[in-house]
Amino acid sequence: MTNRKMLVFGRIGQVGWELRHKLACLGPVTGVEYPEIDFTKPDSIRNAVRAAAPAVIINAAAYTAVDKAETEPEIAMAINGTAPGVLAEEARRLGSILVHYSTDYVFDGAKQSAYLEADAPNPQNVYGKSKLAGDEAIQAVGGDYLILRTSWVYGARGSNFLLTMLRLAMERDELRIVDDQTGAPTTSECIAQATANLLAQLLAPQGGGLQGRSGIYNLTNAGETTWFGFAKAFLTKHYGTETPKLIPIPTSEFPRPAKRPANSRLSCQRLEETFGAVMPHWEDALSLVLETLAERA
Ligand SMILES: NC(=O)c1ccc[n+]([C@@H]2O[C@H](COP(=O)([O-])OP(=O)(O)OC[C@H]3O[C@@H](n4cnc5c(N)ncnc54)[C@H](OP(=O)(O)O)[C@@H]3O)[C@@H](O)[C@H]2O)c1
Repeated sequence: MTNRKMLVFGRIGQVGWELRHKLACLGPVTGVEYPEIDFTKPDSIRNAVRAAAPAVIINAAAYTAVDKAETEPEIAMAINGTAPGVLAEEARRLGSILVHYSTDYVFDGAKQSAYLEADAPNPQNVYGKSKLAGDEAIQAVGGDYLILRTSWVYGARGSNFLLTMLRLAMERDELRIVDDQTGAPTTSECIAQATANLLAQLLAPQGGGLQGRSGIYNLTNAGETTWFGFAKAFLTKHYGTETPKLIPIPTSEFPRPAKRPANSRLSCQRLEETFGAVMPHWEDALSLVLETLAERA
């Protein structure tokens, strides 16, 4: 029987947790997590891959503390920059497909329109630099891989902007939110579902794998907004008239250790043209997350 085993790194992260649910219909899924597997220790990565011998390796593990990374550049680089290269080597050795996630933060945000995969990266913070190093390490190894670049990830569980703001809205009378950074909020569920759809194509008997389609693909929910626009949408939907006063502010009034790009928009045209993948609008994806939260409450 054909090997359909999938190995997910970062199984309790936002994307990793959703992946295990969405991938289950495609074949056996094994999820591994820190500290059982530590991305700062290449041998622990190699051992996990060799023990599982999967057809597909999906890397949802990452150092995602964007501001903290400014003071821990070596750890961020080991996890985000070096470990993906080790995964790529192991994937190529086994003849497996590697799926890896990248970020809008590899760009400086100066472009006036949505970023294409071919645009030159120019990360402005340590996290972005470490993620770019990971993308480049995978590309240098080659083999069968998909680097899926996404942005502003959130969902009904995990640590994210939506859950933080919903909590702050209960505690404060007014919220000041950055309104001059533009991007596409993207749900962990949509990322995982799109990943599963891509793998269903590649693993199908007539799918034939990647066939020269290895590369970087942008993968975000459709549409765009600012952090303020995003917060206004979910706070008014979730709390109605109980929503605290919302004040749009420029980035300069909310200084943080890591610089963020003003433009985080990523064009998903290449993904659509190559694999026929169409991503839902961010407002539709948001409604599903809010429904899940309401159901839970
Ligand atoms: N979050 C965003 O807004 C965003 C935006 C663009 C791209 N992305 C990318 O999307 C992917 C998924 O992000 P996410 O938001 O799902 O991340 P997340 O929720 O922060 O999950 C990351 C996972 O990596 C694990 N991890 C941390 N340090 C590790 C180590 N030393 N060894 C092994 N595993 C380790 C974490 O474990 P612990 O929980 O135990 O630390 C966690 O399970 C990442 O590649 C990220 O760079 C995210």
